[in-house]
Amino acid sequence: MCEFATTREHDIPRLLRPLLARNSNWTTQVTPIVRGNFRNERHNSRPYVAEDFAACLAIFDSNVPTFFAPEERADICQFLESIATEGWPYLVLTRSGSDIACGGLAVEPERKRASLAWGMVDRVFHGQGLGTRLTQARLAQARAIPGIAERILETSQHTHGFYEKFGFTASRVTPDGFEPGLDRWNMTLRLTDT
Ligand SMILES: CC(C)(COP(=O)(O)OP(=O)(O)OC[C@H]1O[C@@H](n2cnc3c(N)ncnc32)[C@H](O)[C@@H]1OP(=O)(O)O)[C@@H](O)C(=O)NCCC(=O)NCCS
Repeated sequence: MCEFATTREHDIPRLLRPLLARNSNWTTQVTPIVRGNFRNERHNSRPYVAEDFAACLAIFDSNVPTFFAPEERADICQFLESIATEGWPYLVLTRSGSDIACGGLAVEPERKRASLAWGMVDRVFHGQGLGTRLTQARLAQARAIPGIAERILETSQHTHGFYEKFGFTASRVTPDGFEPGLDRWNMTLRLTDT
């Protein structure tokens, strides 16, 4: 299960890539998160680089099996390996030099929409504001892309409530849509809704 599992079916036109590259330069210091153990911690946000591969996979693994099906490991490997060539904007949040959350965007300009892709926080750090930070950053990225009318994602019964906080609404719910016991929630947030 993921927000966007079929990234290889999508492409970002070459004309759009310079814009996305500019907008994915999230290297500034992130303001301290005012919750939990992170009240006084500083986090950095920056674009994914190939050296993040193992750390992002470890974040994925920490969320198996509750949030992700083990079978999805191949999908995220393929996604991470394609980031550089496809030009997907993908962010990594770090603390003390370690990757603790990651997530990106896949853009479909011809359909005027952007999909939130593979957004995840290391299981150890859930509930401390990192998912919010990551989602806000990606929504801002999508908002900055000309012509995008809606943001979409796929998630499960375990996390749809989190995305509802940002205004996403369910467009379809498929019981066992990812695997037995893991429902698929298709969700949409139109630009005019925010
Ligand atoms: C979904 C996820 C990104 C949330 O990240 P997080 O850092 O734990 O969330 P935050 O700490 O920013 O939570 C912000 C708010 O959302 C709420 N929230 C967090 N997870 C939630 C969930 N699963 N369902 C409903 N609400 C949730 C929090 O209680 C908090 O509410 P508050 O502002 O009223 O206090 C995280 O649980 C995760 O990585 N899950 C595994 C991967 C995954 O399923 N990704 C989504 C689709 S691929």
